[in-house]
Amino acid sequence: MSAKEILPPVQWLDNRHARPDASSAVVDSLLPSGIALKTRKFHRQLEGYRMSPLKSLGSLAGMLNLGGIWIKDESVRLSLNSFKALGGSYAIYRDVTKKLGDEVSVEELLAGEARRKLGDLVFATATDGNHGRGIAWSATRLGFKSVVYVHKNTSAARIDAIRRNGAEIVVVNGTYDDAVRQVSADATQHGWQIISDTSWAGYEEIPKWVMQGYTTLVAEAQEQLAGQGLARPTHVFVQAGVGALAASVMGFYQQLLGVDRPKTVVVEPTEAACLMLSAQQQDGNPRHFEGDLDTIMAGLACGDPSPLAWNVLRHCADVFTICPDYVAAKGMRVYAVPLDGDAFIVSGESGAVTLGALMYIMQWEGARALREALALGPDSQILLINTEGNTDPDDFRRVVWEGGDSVPDPYKTRVSRTFGG
Ligand SMILES: Cc1ncc(COP(=O)(O)O)c(C=O)c1O
Repeated sequence: MSAKEILPPVQWLDNRHARPDASSAVVDSLLPSGIALKTRKFHRQLEGYRMSPLKSLGSLAGMLNLGGIWIKDESVRLSLNSFKALGGSYAIYRDVTKKLGDEVSVEELLAGEARRKLGDLVFATATDGNHGRGIAWSATRLGFKSVVYVHKNTSAARIDAIRRNGAEIVVVNGTYDDAVRQVSADATQHGWQIISDTSWAGYEEIPKWVMQGYTTLVAEAQEQLAGQGLARPTHVFVQAGVGALAASVMGFYQQLLGVDRPKTVVVEPTEAACLMLSAQQQDGNPRHFEGDLDTIMAGLACGDPSPLAWNVLRHCADVFTICPDYVAAKGMRVYAVPLDGDAFIVSGESGAVTLGALMYIMQWEGARALREALALGPDSQILLINTEGNTDPDDFRRVVWEGGDSVPDPYKTRVSRTFGG
């Protein structure tokens, strides 16, 4: 038993700045009209592109007294086990078409004339694993070189996967945020183009393209929900590291539906809660989360929000939540051993935390006020995104096979009744 303090499964903050009724210049500039069609048109040209599946956990929804739980399963996206390449590939494409001064197709980009004009470009980034893998894959597919910076705690399996996709690797002795700073300095020196999923002062265009690239998955999900007879989900939960994915998903619904948009919940690790910390401030500015970001949710282990994402989430996220590692671990096991009739889903640490969070919100007495505030019940249709599959096989087995990060006693469900429900 670890000496660590036992943390409650969910802590939350109602975002009093959420404004579903207000149009926002920030969201308009991030997601201009027609952008999802444009990004999908690009993604369709990529080798291996197909819609990721939307899966149903109908039996679990019944058990939790919900109308439906829908999982957009990104574990099978472009053979990369995560959604991340959607953003990186689109940003690289936009960057090279800007350099060319022309909107070429992918086929034209790979052909002689465009290549000659562009010369030997190198794309660089810092990563927790998945973004780097997406950049390596995308740069290689579009015919360019890539250099990916990882931090000292990145697992060997994640590093191998990035290298296999064609990137050169640099290991930085520090956290993810140190890797971001280092790649920025080295890129200036070597003339590389940084493709980062996080923004900083003076560097916003590329992270904006990355976020626009993510809209493909929400646009697909909307189409798939319509195929199930649902015009929209009533609630969307999105896990966050720097917040780019959450801002993209929540901004998409804000643009599409305005006041009719779903209720939106951001989910972060308790040990890397930079968005929650920012939401707690009065002045509306993003904050740095101190600490060594010690969480099994590697993709969410970020100490600094992306300012671009934060500006969207400030107004488009209804609730900010934080969860400890055992909530993500529980989500992984529930996905892997579904109830009768439910889809089987392979979900990694960062992918599974939203399902774990949803279960605690519905079943833990301590979250009663939150489930009431969110009006969660039999009419609710929840959209979750399984953002990654088994991206770290050793840790996946530690959790799913060996019961790692087990649920602490006070938060276990009792047999034959849901606790406190
Ligand atoms: C699997 C997974 N899920 C979610 C996220 C969160 O995305 P963001 O950093 O844009 O908040 C990441 C980021 O790398 C990730 O790898």
